[in-house]
Amino acid sequence: DIKGFVFDLDGVITDTSVLHGNAWHQLADSLGVSWNDDLANGLKGISRMDSLEMILKAGHKENDYNQEQKVALATQKNDNYVAEVNKMTPANILPGMKAFLDDLRAKGYQLSLASASKNAPRVLDKLQLADYFPKVVDPANLTHGKPDPEIYTKGAQVLNLDPAQCIGVEDAAAGVQAINAAGEVSLGIGDAHELAAADMVFADTASVTLENIAKKLG
Ligand code: G6P
Ligand code: MG
Repeated sequence: DIKGFVFDLDGVITDTSVLHGNAWHQLADSLGVSWNDDLANGLKGISRMDSLEMILKAGHKENDYNQEQKVALATQKNDNYVAEVNKMTPANILPGMKAFLDDLRAKGYQLSLASASKNAPRVLDKLQLADYFPKVVDPANLTHGKPDPEIYTKGAQVLNLDPAQCIGVEDAAAGVQAINAAGEVSLGIGDAHELAAADMVFADTASVTLENIAKKLG
């Protein structure tokens, strides 16, 4: 039986995936790396430094910067991103997500957060959702980022649940891979092709309800 939900944040609870994308796009432009949808989608769920590496590799520039310069570039992106996050309010919660979280809480499901973002606590705070997620996996303590299962394994651990008792909720292909490898049930939100590995896919957040999940679980 399902007893807990392990949530991704960016692109699931709020549309910060767009803000991350915009900030990376801006950095890529300034570095002369051409931007495209595949690169944008591939960055979803990927840690800050891994994202920078992917962008530099896409432009064959991974050897053009030393570690200190790379950290400076990542910081530049993050400063731009944080400036946008600071403008957020609860109105930025994606459609239906507040109602879904309320329903989960009312029905006694346990919730944890498995976001690769070091800004997750700030985002939750802006959305006034921090109370819903007392258990947040700290990405600073991870050895491997998504698609490695580590963050989802820990997301179940902090709830004292077996992975099989948890549904992982993701918008990124790398995240769905991580959930599957952790042995949790994967719920993807977004494009069915991109998230084909998920146990169930919903086109948008508004259709993610316990009733619809029960139908898909069969
Ligand atoms: C999430 C987002 C990624 C982002 C990563 C790190 O996984 O989907 O786009 O790069 O977090 O975020 P941070 O806020 O720590 O730079
Ligand atoms: Mg995401």
